[in-house]
Amino acid sequence: MNQTIRKAIFPAAGLGTRFLPATKASPKEMLPLVDKPLIQYAVEEAVASGVESILIITGRDKVSIENHFDISFELETILKEKGKDDVFKQVRAISDMAKISYTRQSQALGLGHAIYQAKDFAGNDPFAALLADDVVDAETPALAQMIEVFERYQAPVIATMQVEGEAISRFGVIDADEVEPGVFKINDMVEKPAFADAPSDLAIIGRYIFTPEIFSAIERTKPGAGGEIQITDAMRLMLKEGRPFYAFRLEGTRHDAGDKLGFLIANIEFALKREDLGEPLREYLRGLQL
Ligand code: UTP
Repeated sequence: MNQTIRKAIFPAAGLGTRFLPATKASPKEMLPLVDKPLIQYAVEEAVASGVESILIITGRDKVSIENHFDISFELETILKEKGKDDVFKQVRAISDMAKISYTRQSQALGLGHAIYQAKDFAGNDPFAALLADDVVDAETPALAQMIEVFERYQAPVIATMQVEGEAISRFGVIDADEVEPGVFKINDMVEKPAFADAPSDLAIIGRYIFTPEIFSAIERTKPGAGGEIQITDAMRLMLKEGRPFYAFRLEGTRHDAGDKLGFLIANIEFALKREDLGEPLREYLRGLQL
């Protein structure tokens, strides 16, 4: 029987060193994009893509994420008393969104290690992994686009985007054959290649659909760069063992909100699209003497 995706995990236990000092006592995933934390965008994307069950993998500062998705009786009571019905509804909707559970990655030993913490949660089911600091602004939610590919191929799918020129060296890059427009069968992948060595212009971004086989691959993956267990190494192991892996070229714009410049750009782009903020912000930007 063909499977679909109902479970999603959100690794949020990284140290966020590129965003210090903001990430000293609060996870990067709680940084606000206009007025919503990054992780809420990712959770909303998953729910809009049909996900019903969510696991957030937290690090040392898990409290703010848990509180954000929990009911806040005190705040809700005050909002109601003050007649702020619209805000009340927004706040209540956050805790009604999906069934969310949490687990802890006790040490930031890499994304592969973080994903491994979801072994029991996934059980025998395929699942999605979303990195909330990669924000994808798309008409059809990014994960929904990938699930459509998974349903047809019944094999792991990773998200990619086309990157022009030398910037490709900042990403994991796939070596792959296009099997239909926008869908690629992966042969291999390399982390941060030199521009001249990049096998394609398709960069891996933070959306993955895995089958439970990934856990045994992570168990067999030795720590790589920086002593961390890299998810790319686990995926390469599966590829070497002949397991099929697909890549999908996402339709939409991806912002690296884990990087200061990327974060600022994402805020401007998202704010410009807002009915309440777009016009005044545009006016302000026009007036800047640059
Ligand atoms: P990054 O590569 O962005 O690392 O992680 P980071 O530590 O969060 O940030 P920088 O590079 O130091 O600034 C990609 C994703 O993987 C998660 C992060 O929370 C982020 O969503 N991650 C990374 C973990 O959950 N655990 C880890 O050990 C490493």
